[in-house]
Amino acid sequence: MNNDLIYQGSDLMLDRLPLAAIAKEYGTPVYVYSASSIRGQADRLMQSLGTIGSLRYAVKANANPALLALVFGMGIGADSVSRGEMQAALGAGCPADRIVFSGVGKTQEELAFALDRGIFINAESEEELAAIARLQTGVHVGIRINPCVDAHTHQYMTTGMAENKFGIPIDFAPRAFREAMDKGLVPDTISCHIGSQITSVEPYRKSLARLLELRDSLMSDGIPVSALDMGGGFGINYEGGADFAVEDLQALLHRDVPQGMKLSFEPGRYIMGHAGTLVTRVLYRKRYARTFVVVDVGMNDLIRPALYQAHHAILPVTRRDSELVTCDIVGPVCESADCFARDVSMPLPDQGDLLAIRDTGAYGWSMSSTYNSRPLLPEVLIEDGEPVLIRERGL
Ligand code: LLP
Repeated sequence: MNNDLIYQGSDLMLDRLPLAAIAKEYGTPVYVYSASSIRGQADRLMQSLGTIGSLRYAVKANANPALLALVFGMGIGADSVSRGEMQAALGAGCPADRIVFSGVGKTQEELAFALDRGIFINAESEEELAAIARLQTGVHVGIRINPCVDAHTHQYMTTGMAENKFGIPIDFAPRAFREAMDKGLVPDTISCHIGSQITSVEPYRKSLARLLELRDSLMSDGIPVSALDMGGGFGINYEGGADFAVEDLQALLHRDVPQGMKLSFEPGRYIMGHAGTLVTRVLYRKRYARTFVVVDVGMNDLIRPALYQAHHAILPVTRRDSELVTCDIVGPVCESADCFARDVSMPLPDQGDLLAIRDTGAYGWSMSSTYNSRPLLPEVLIEDGEPVLIRERGL
């Protein structure tokens, strides 16, 4: 839950600062983050999953250096999927031995970069294992397994099914582990990531059962597996209700995972999602057969609604008492998909009014582009009641 975004009178405040003042100082559109929200969510994970394993923040959710430094400062490691993300993690103070490198398409250069620095690699194919062994033997690696479990999330966010490109299908896993050993690698970790924005513990239960079965068969084949990387995917509630119940996952793992087995997790959204608010200004209203409210933020700045039909609540930065109208909130980009909300009921904002798009801290800025030659957005972090510009607006 994002408890840091509340009205005081008619003014919407983030961490007790009026968003209108931030918009005035930094212009719109602007991403504004709450440090206390990030700390609160990360703390929740540390108190639950952190007591049974280690946390590696999925850098792809939001790679702003100031936010990375905040997360790593709490003792959390990094999950990275490119040379850029490994460099970002190292640059923000994450020790190399707390970074994992995942992804289906790692280049030779990226593998060499990781190996040179002692960054742990989660391999996703037998050919990738061979590429690693050509560069270095004796190295400990993880093998990402596709457990063929439905995560019951958006089809683009499901990664653990047979039709998905990720990992090695579980039936082929014993061969991959054996080959890795034969090539001189030390495959001591089973890794998996079954999807994102997962709302119940059930898919994790199913996947855990399969992974533990695999682990038993590997052990009896003389392949010592000592660690399990459960990936990320813990969903947040975009409607204001409870987030994924991390305590339930903790209880499950506590009960089922054999003593001595190391565990790790790769949360992204859970840590960052609630922390971000995207502030935009109303440019025009168009009232014909439908009512459109045209804002200055576009799908290039926040692609989730267009790409996944994702819902982000939109709040007026200054509340009005006028009568409710049904309207679509749309951006300036030349695509009909450039729409943030359809058929929402709200007091019709005036030209120049500000709106706040909630829960945009994860996969917001990090998925933005300059489509339509639009500049990348600035980012502001509120820390100890002070706004700090942590990224300049692009040109
Ligand atoms: N580990 C691996 C290997 C991943 O691929 C991902 C996310 C994570 C961890 C972190 O997942 P999280 O805890 O954030 O759910 N763009 C989509 C989400 C795609 C996630 C991709 N992989 C969105 O905007 O919802």
